[in-house]
Amino acid sequence: MSVATDLALTVKNAVVTFPVGSGRIHALDDVSLHVGLGEAVAVVGESGCGKTTLARAVLGLQPLDSGAIDVAGRAVRKPEPGLAERVGMVWQDPFASIQPMWRIRRILEEPYRLARKTPQVTELMDMVGLDPKLADRYPHQLSGGQRQRAAIARAISLRPPLVICDEPTAALDLSIQAQILNLLKDLKASTNCSYLYISHDLQTVRYVSDRIVVMYMGQVVETGPTEEVFQNPRHPYTKALLDSAPGIEKIGMLPAEVSGEIPDPKQVIPGCKFASRCTKAQNRCREERPEWTEQGTRGERCFFPLSTIND
Ligand SMILES: Nc1ncnc2c1ncn2[C@@H]1O[C@H](COP(=O)(O)OP(=O)(O)O)[C@@H](O)[C@H]1O
Ligand SMILES: [Mg+2]
Repeated sequence: MSVATDLALTVKNAVVTFPVGSGRIHALDDVSLHVGLGEAVAVVGESGCGKTTLARAVLGLQPLDSGAIDVAGRAVRKPEPGLAERVGMVWQDPFASIQPMWRIRRILEEPYRLARKTPQVTELMDMVGLDPKLADRYPHQLSGGQRQRAAIARAISLRPPLVICDEPTAALDLSIQAQILNLLKDLKASTNCSYLYISHDLQTVRYVSDRIVVMYMGQVVETGPTEEVFQNPRHPYTKALLDSAPGIEKIGMLPAEVSGEIPDPKQVIPGCKFASRCTKAQNRCREERPEWTEQGTRGERCFFPLSTIND
């Protein structure tokens, strides 16, 4: 298979299932997406839709049942030492990204050491707005925001073309969240990195991403340029998600009154997985699985997409 080199990430028909009781959950159910070099792509969807499984798969931490993942033009199969030069990771909890028992200096030197490169800790700390005097502290001696800055510094240390952020601000105070989002934006401008930015928080997604990928129960149901999708969602699930966002304190779940019956994730659903909650659903939606269709920069998995205002 030839690989386009202008892509930071390609995920093709990725399937990940987990055994649960007597059945299996499709955490990723035929997921395909890409991130261009220098592009910030947000993956949004309710809790449990498969976002973290996707991140773990891209890092080689989660094997695929089938499908393929390329980072910067090379296949990912398992965690390999050189992978840190192609992809950096920022988790929601900075302690998951950095060694809690090490001083900041050692945490930031480690990726260089593994890659046999000269550490540039002071420069790195400057880049993420951390006072280099903090290099001799332990992570627990930093504030939550400073710790996340250190985790971001570690992720970008080897200048990977792709940085994955999984709910990077969810554990932070609101005022700190904005600072971290601004830092991510500034770093993208200064290093030209690409982001796979995972969040259930639509406001932050709108702020940081160029393009949005909406997931529902392990499937991509819609994609498009962020502003276009926010203004004219085509999948009824996207619209329900946007309508449910009650400002800044949202939890990224559909409100109970529009949520309908949520299917058992172990159940094999013959039609559209959102049909049981969709106000537009017709018989066909319950009987037949909608294929992925694309038109220009937009794509969706829906038999009856909402028409756009500019149609
Ligand atoms: N290791 C695991 N074993 C069993 N089920 C899992 C495992 N990891 C995730 N899942 C299930 O896979 C689905 C997707 O989970 P996850 O990727 O964490 O979603 P998200 O990050 O969007 O909240 C959920 O139903 C979750 O319970
Ligand atoms: Mg998650």
